Amino acid sequence: STKTLSLNTGAQIPQVGLGTWQSKDNDAYKSVLAALKAGYKHIDTAAIYRNEDQVGQAIKDSGVPREEIFVTTKLWSTQHHEPAKALDESLQRLGLDYVDLYLIHWPARLDTNYIKDGDILSVPTKADGSRAVDVTNWNFIKTWELMQELPKTGKTKAIGVSNFSINNLKDLLASPGNKLTPAANQVEIHPLLPQNELINFCKSKKIMIEAYSPLGSTDAPLLKEPTILKIAKKNNVQPGHVVISWHAQRGYVVLPKSVNPDRIETNRKIFTLSNEDFEAINNISKEKGEKRVVNPNWSPFEAFK
Ligand code: A2P
Repeated sequence: STKTLSLNTGAQIPQVGLGTWQSKDNDAYKSVLAALKAGYKHIDTAAIYRNEDQVGQAIKDSGVPREEIFVTTKLWSTQHHEPAKALDESLQRLGLDYVDLYLIHWPARLDTNYIKDGDILSVPTKADGSRAVDVTNWNFIKTWELMQELPKTGKTKAIGVSNFSINNLKDLLASPGNKLTPAANQVEIHPLLPQNELINFCKSKKIMIEAYSPLGSTDAPLLKEPTILKIAKKNNVQPGHVVISWHAQRGYVVLPKSVNPDRIETNRKIFTLSNEDFEAINNISKEKGEKRVVNPNWSPFEAFK
């Protein structure tokens, strides 16, 4: 699909983008190159993925003009107090002058006092193994105030958030220092976690929703759902097409991850689901219950209400 959607900044964002979480080293390079060759115009990365250098190299080597590609990266949680510096570091690794979208990766700041070996791109943990979340000295309202300075530098065209709940967004929008509405909120969405309330809230505020782990992440568990398999068979398409088409039909950005050139190519083909098939997929989570598949043992929404 070459379809684009409008951000609240007026910019266009290609609806299907390549996700790169867990794409390491040469895999990240090869997948981004394969995606750009297959016609993708949208690549999603993050500082913590530790593949920005590979992503940037692939963008350069693809020969696709920079201005034709929508690039997103994310502020890691140990750098909430210094987004300008963190963005500079990301641009340096990417070898780019600007990104199109810069997101706060998680609403929580991680406590820099627990960083080991000076490794800022890590998940600092406490002695008991829990994540060293800093909720006493910092909050995302402060991060957002600093983020708001970035678009005027030209180093990012737009700013947004990721993994923010409705309550998080309400707090952010109501804060006295808030001048810009986030352009996007990137969250886990798939048929087992449809996030209908969050999607409706973001729509009402003109915040673009972006779905990560749209196939259910590692091993793509959603592609084994009997309902999905039945619909795929009936329409003579791949299960991946069914799930990604369901996302697209819901009107937001979808970011399937793959390092396999064939799957990369097929993942951007979408078709129109019948009302009946669309509703059958909506019913999966009603029948089976809603379930996060990413970080199941650590819910940011519990930690940050
Ligand atoms: P691979 O990178 O080897 O293709 P998500 O987008 O939900 O994060 O899902 C990504 C997972 O699904 C990865 O494990 C990826 O593996 C796999 N995957 C991606 N596209 C497809 C597809 N069309 N069919 C089957 N598996 C897929």
